[in-house]
Amino acid sequence: MRLAPNIILIGFMGSGKSAVGRALAGRLRWRHRDTDTEIESEAGCTIADLFLAEGEAAFRQRETAILARLLTGLETEPTILSTGGGTPLQPESATLLKRMGTVIWLQASSEVIWVRVGPNLASRPLLAAYQDNPQARIESLLTARAPLYAAVADFALDTSIYARPMEAADQILSLLNR
Ligand code: S3P
Repeated sequence: MRLAPNIILIGFMGSGKSAVGRALAGRLRWRHRDTDTEIESEAGCTIADLFLAEGEAAFRQRETAILARLLTGLETEPTILSTGGGTPLQPESATLLKRMGTVIWLQASSEVIWVRVGPNLASRPLLAAYQDNPQARIESLLTARAPLYAAVADFALDTSIYARPMEAADQILSLLNR
């Protein structure tokens, strides 16, 4: 069973999940949650430090645990949830995302993603380890992940064409007729 009317944003790093999530929450006056922020405050360190200390598999388990915890609160308060770029990778997390509400896959071309994440590679451990050719890494991760995003999403929206997050948020609201 799905806990409507929550809106769940998925998509690659730099696709706009956090910024569009904040804009949507502002428009609807709903609360906004961000799995990366929840994980950082629970762990008491940055995602980059967490990857160093515990590795990716442990990080994915933390994501699943956060989603399971958030799910219990979604019945009482409509929520916009911004996820991490790899959240749907874990099958258990993908199942939880689908139960939470309407899932919107935010898309952007690899060129646009590079422009957005390039200046802050250090905060993104899955790219920072590929300093010699991060753009090729973006391409290969995008290709590998596209089917996983597609399997979870109810709608997809290319954010590359919007100059500001609020424009993408308004487009999502018209897609959802809200
Ligand atoms: C990740 C994306 C990051 C963060 C972590 C792993 C990924 O979130 O969860 O570094 O696997 O793509 P953003 O998409 O918000 O950058």
